[in-house]
Amino acid sequence: MACAFSDTCRAVIVFIWTALTLSIVHVASATNISIHVAVSEIERQALLNSGWWKDRIPQNTSDHCGWVGITCDYEGRITDIGLQKSNIKGELGRLNFSCFPNLQYLDLGSNNLSGSIPSQIDSLSNLTYIYLYENNLTGTIPKEIGSLRNLEVLDLGSNNLNGTIPIEIGSVRNLETLSLDGNKLSGVLPIYFGTIPIEIESLRNLQWLDLSSNKLSGTIPKEIGSLRNLKELDLSSNKLGGVLPQEIENLKSLTALSMDANNLGGPIPSTLFRLTNIEYLSLGFNRFNGSIPREIVNLKNLTSLSLGGNKLTGHIPSTLGRLTSLQILDLSSNQLHSSIPLVIGNFSALSYLDLSDNRICGIIPDELTKLSHLKYLNLSSNLLSGQIPFAIGKLFNLASLDLSKNKLSGSIPTEIGNCSELRNLTLNHNSLNGSIPLEMGKILWLQNLDLSHNNLSGTIPKTLPPMYLDMSFNSLEGEIPTYLQGHPPKSFVGNNGLCGHVKGFPSCSQSQKHPPSIILFVKIFLPLSLILPFIILGFILLLKRQNKTPKLNSRAAKNGDVFSVWNYDGKILYEDLINATEDFHIKYCIGTGGYGSVYKAELPEGKVVALKKLHHSETEDSAFVKSFQNEAHVLSTVRHRNIVKLYGFCLHKKCMFLIYEYMERGSLFCVLRDDDEAI
Ligand SMILES: *[C@@H]1O[C@H](CO)[C@@H](O)[C@H](O)[C@H]1NC(C)=O
Ligand SMILES: *[C@@H]1O[C@H](CO)[C@@H](O)[C@H](O)[C@H]1NC(C)=O
Ligand SMILES: *[C@@H]1O[C@H](CO)[C@@H](O)[C@H](O)[C@H]1NC(C)=O
Ligand SMILES: *[C@@H]1O[C@H](CO)[C@@H](O)[C@H](O)[C@H]1NC(C)=O
Ligand SMILES: *[C@@H]1O[C@H](CO)[C@@H](O)[C@H](O)[C@H]1NC(C)=O
Ligand SMILES: *[C@@H]1O[C@H](CO)[C@@H](O)[C@H](O)[C@H]1NC(C)=O
Ligand SMILES: *[C@@H]1O[C@H](CO)[C@@H](O)[C@H](O)[C@H]1NC(C)=O
Ligand SMILES: *[C@@H]1O[C@H](CO)[C@@H](O)[C@H](O)[C@H]1NC(C)=O
Ligand SMILES: *[C@@H]1O[C@H](CO)[C@@H](O)[C@H](O)[C@H]1NC(C)=O
Ligand SMILES: *[C@@H]1O[C@H](CO)[C@@H](O)[C@H](O)[C@H]1NC(C)=O
Ligand SMILES: *[C@@H]1O[C@H](CO)[C@@H](O)[C@H](O)[C@H]1NC(C)=O
Ligand SMILES: *[C@@H]1O[C@H](CO)[C@@H](O)[C@H](O)[C@H]1NC(C)=O
Repeated sequence: MACAFSDTCRAVIVFIWTALTLSIVHVASATNISIHVAVSEIERQALLNSGWWKDRIPQNTSDHCGWVGITCDYEGRITDIGLQKSNIKGELGRLNFSCFPNLQYLDLGSNNLSGSIPSQIDSLSNLTYIYLYENNLTGTIPKEIGSLRNLEVLDLGSNNLNGTIPIEIGSVRNLETLSLDGNKLSGVLPIYFGTIPIEIESLRNLQWLDLSSNKLSGTIPKEIGSLRNLKELDLSSNKLGGVLPQEIENLKSLTALSMDANNLGGPIPSTLFRLTNIEYLSLGFNRFNGSIPREIVNLKNLTSLSLGGNKLTGHIPSTLGRLTSLQILDLSSNQLHSSIPLVIGNFSALSYLDLSDNRICGIIPDELTKLSHLKYLNLSSNLLSGQIPFAIGKLFNLASLDLSKNKLSGSIPTEIGNCSELRNLTLNHNSLNGSIPLEMGKILWLQNLDLSHNNLSGTIPKTLPPMYLDMSFNSLEGEIPTYLQGHPPKSFVGNNGLCGHVKGFPSCSQSQKHPPSIILFVKIFLPLSLILPFIILGFILLLKRQNKTPKLNSRAAKNGDVFSVWNYDGKILYEDLINATEDFHIKYCIGTGGYGSVYKAELPEGKVVALKKLHHSETEDSAFVKSFQNEAHVLSTVRHRNIVKLYGFCLHKKCMFLIYEYMERGSLFCVLRDDDEAI
């Protein structure tokens, strides 16, 4: 019994045990598979329920991992959904966010999706990238986003989201990109960042922060300085006020900073200019006041600088000339005075220059025409005088030239015809005279020509391209070319001599059109033939004279020529000057700058000069004295319409001043105000 039990039974028991174990193992692995199938089926069902894949399922693929925009891991679980620009419509909530626990990448950008962002987004705990930009999402940003600890990119730009930026975003430590631009977000900046509990650390990994075009208010918290890895910061087009916090200097990695179109005020902090990696700086349309800091020269890599639409005063710092990478410079609509600095010629890469709507005076320097890449030049609404430089023709890439609303005189240079890329040419409200150059006909693409409110005379060339034009209020005469007669009459009003088939103008009489040839001969050629020999003679004489003009470095010419005005007794002159200004009394002072003050002095002979007295600190610097001497020697011999005549100078340990020709307030004030230019 015992024996039979022992042997056979043992075998039976072993058999049963093995079978049992095997079946248990079998059951276990079957469950594993069924779990996979279940997860997979839930995901597949969720995709189908959204209705977004109806037309996106390839015919021979029943496996949803092969559907358009779907990526699975090796176990068949969805990790990526990428359906950007796929014209999906309807509610974002149709995709059941609870069903994709392994999702890492979600891109539904540019799809016209509506509805709000579901709070179930927190079940996507593995989500690393969220792109929902350019949709029509409404409602608020759910605070549940704060629990997505793996999130690196959150892009909800260009939607209709409102409410505040949830504080909870501050706990998404891995966040590198946060784009919430172009929504209707309001409230103060929570820049994780000041207002939140201490235990939540700031977003130290953040590199790109774009909150532009919202309705954010309040001030920029100083804690923004803790976002040390920030590369691009865009807070433009909000309602932020206060000043730029000094702490901004901690953002050493910053390459682009936009704060334009806010209510920021006070001076531009010079600490900003310690951020030497900045390439793009835009602070336009705020209320910044004070002057443009000289330290701006530290931003060596700057390619775009926009400070337009502020309340900046003072002059354009000449140190700007060392920013040779600059491509865009916008200083428009401020209160800048002084002249256009000559260093402008240093901006060899510049393609956009807007200095319009300031108080810039003086002439348009020839140096400007060295900017051969210039496409847009706007100097309108300033106090510029003198002529349009002939060299303007060198700017052959120019597409838009606006010199309107200045005090420019002289004629329109024929060289303008070389600017063959011009689309917009705006010269209205100046004092230009002479005729409209025929060469303008070479500007084939001209769309917009405004020459109104000048003193232009002569006839309208028949070569002008057809376009929008305004020639009103000049002294033009003769026939309006037939092909321009379709233009509204207001394009030509205010020109008494014009005629043609345009409403309000007399039609041209036969005699005006074809003056009898004999009268023409008597009127024009006869006097001409009498005058011509004299003109030629005069021309030859002029040429000879010009050859004789003194060379700059001939020392002999200098003293005799320049100081003859003053019968060259330095001592008497010095005393006269001291008397005339009552020892530099403040009441004779007409301007003050960084290097010195300018006085107006009336000498006994009735001659009026301007004295520029230099501050003490410079007179003690021997290098400065040396360069002062050199400059004074050169200046005293130069005769050029662009340079104020220097009569002489006094150089002494105790006092150092320059004596200039006195010019009317505008130009002298202007040139001397700008110390760098004057010296
Ligand atoms: C069940 O699946 C997991 C992966 O999810 C795997 O690690 C494990 O080995 C599987 N178990 C069996 C019994 O196959
Ligand atoms: C599915 O069909 C497409 C064409 O409709 C073909 O290019 C592709 O190779 C097919 N895939 C399989 C797995 O048969
Ligand atoms: C989303 O999926 C979860 C889990 O599968 C389910 O409980 C819930 O009812 C679903 N929601 C909708 C709106 O279908
Ligand atoms: C987006 O959808 C709305 C209606 O839901 C429609 O009126 C609008 O034209 C669509 N916009 C685009 C760009 O498709
Ligand atoms: C998903 O997240 C869970 C924890 O939330 C983690 O255990 C798992 O490894 C993650 N999966 C992947 C694919 O990252
Ligand atoms: C966005 O949705 C609103 C309704 O929620 C609708 O009035 C509006 O036209 C939509 N805008 C676009 C651009 O589709
Ligand atoms: C957000 O907009 C919705 C309408 O789209 C409105 O009902 C709601 O009051 C707004 N919320 C806030 C905080 O402005
Ligand atoms: C300017 O840019 C160059 C590369 O474009 C870089 O090597 C250099 O470090 C930058 N200079 C500063 C001051 O950031
Ligand atoms: C700049 O504006 C602030 C007020 O915003 C004012 O207090 C300050 O005096 C102004 N500074 C200058 C130089 O105008
Ligand atoms: C103009 O640029 C050169 C370098 O290209 C620089 O050496 C020079 O100092 C600049 N001039 C001024 C006035 O900044
Ligand atoms: C030039 O600037 C003025 C004032 O800032 C502006 O009104 C005008 O439109 C600008 N001209 C062009 C051609 O952009
Ligand atoms: C010309 O001026 C018009 C209107 O001021 C503007 O829309 C257009 O962009 C300008 N063209 C160029 C090339 O600047």
